[in-house]
Amino acid sequence: MARPKIGIIYYSMFGNTYKMAKAVCGGVDEAEGEALLYTVPDLLPDSVVNSNESIKKAKEFQSKVKIAKPEDIESLDGIILGSPTRFGNMCAQLRNFMDQTGSQWIKGSLINKPAGVFCCTASLHGGQETTLISMAFTLIHHGAIIIGVPYSIKELAETKTGGTPYGPTAVVGENADQSPAETDLTIARELGKRVTFIAKKLKN
Ligand SMILES: Cc1cc2nc3c(=O)[nH]c(=O)nc-3n(C[C@H](O)[C@H](O)[C@H](O)COP(=O)(O)O)c2cc1C
Repeated sequence: MARPKIGIIYYSMFGNTYKMAKAVCGGVDEAEGEALLYTVPDLLPDSVVNSNESIKKAKEFQSKVKIAKPEDIESLDGIILGSPTRFGNMCAQLRNFMDQTGSQWIKGSLINKPAGVFCCTASLHGGQETTLISMAFTLIHHGAIIIGVPYSIKELAETKTGGTPYGPTAVVGENADQSPAETDLTIARELGKRVTFIAKKLKN
């Protein structure tokens, strides 16, 4: 059977959501899926990027990541969205991308496809779950089947920095300079594995 194609579509300003995205890809690979990593077009003015060394550095190390086009979601067997929290919501860059997927919504490209969500926040109670749900709502409208993270993954009960049944999360500090903890990266890998596992079942 052909490996299911799982699109991991994320935005990351300081690089932490990118690290979570890479962990999700690792899980997809482990479950013998094909991980297709995409970021989305930025909306930050160059003046903002160029005036902040941390943003510039994060841009550099993501410079090889493909930029998603709405039609890229048409051939996926599963989709996983990742975003930094913005006021308890997904970021504008990801919202902007998803708002351009109207034709794919009309075509039903994501109907019955498994989907997952992950995010990063500055603080522990800074809106991780609401951010996850904001992405899940959009995917539900697309007809996707939301896949969470079950408590059989022991890290979910152990993490002190994120990790929810709605999807992997990481607290990265107010300056976004604390990388996601290993437990949270493990939960991110597990989501990648689980979406792939279910995509394989649905493809049969
Ligand atoms: C405009 C703005 C709004 C933010 N809102 C929140 C928030 O509601 N809760 C929170 O914990 N962090 C908030 N943050 C912090 C980001 O979520 C954090 O920097 C991000 O998760 C880091 O991910 P990244 O390294 O992938 O950019 C906000 C940051 C910005 C710039």
